[in-house]
Amino acid sequence: MKKVSHLAPGILKLGPYGRHRNAVWLLVNGDEAALLEMPNYRQGREARPWSAAKRCLRGIGARLKYALISHAHIDHCQSLVKFRETFPEAHFVAHQSQAESAMVARLAWSAGYPPADIFDQVFSDDVCFLDLNGEPLILLHAPKHSASDVMMAYRGTALTGDWYLGDLKDCNALVHPAQKVHSINRVQSWLRHLDYDVKRAFSGHGDCLLMDVDFQRLLEQSKVDHPPVRKRARRG
Ligand SMILES: [Fe+2]
Ligand SMILES: [Fe+2]
Repeated sequence: MKKVSHLAPGILKLGPYGRHRNAVWLLVNGDEAALLEMPNYRQGREARPWSAAKRCLRGIGARLKYALISHAHIDHCQSLVKFRETFPEAHFVAHQSQAESAMVARLAWSAGYPPADIFDQVFSDDVCFLDLNGEPLILLHAPKHSASDVMMAYRGTALTGDWYLGDLKDCNALVHPAQKVHSINRVQSWLRHLDYDVKRAFSGHGDCLLMDVDFQRLLEQSKVDHPPVRKRARRG
């Protein structure tokens, strides 16, 4: 079985899965849990992420209340239909940009589902408030790495998907720089408005785990297109 890591109160990481080594996140409070990311996996070479999530939830005695993705890129949502079939009681929640993405449509149709049947709740506002036994789970639509980016905040941790933090640049150029700044401002103003203190920031893949971070400062730095770091010429 793939590794399960307890990284913060109520936050578990499963995986990694697939060629791009994606995590599956479980956010837990008592007997209620939310799942984030439904990645692909290498057939025959590793446990299926939906089975691993089910086993882990059974082990901790929690039921899956919500299932979510950070954005509609294949490495984060390829198993969407498998998770949907494994957790028929869970509430699948997505931003409109995710639900209406070509990727989700392709995944749904290829499994014989109309795309509209995959999600139980689709939100089109900037923000969506969920809760696990009263503990807030905040979803913020904030495109930086992709048009369908949703950043999440839970128990003082930001789950940042594929955002590159600390610079305006990302691993692609799918979102206009002005919209990236707008998204960062949106996240900052919502956190201030809610008086919500983010202490940790975890990337969607689980490869960047910032445990004691000044998140507002990091977001400020993320608005700047820093010059590339040049390798210093070796002397002598
Ligand atoms: Fe991505
Ligand atoms: Fe990714």
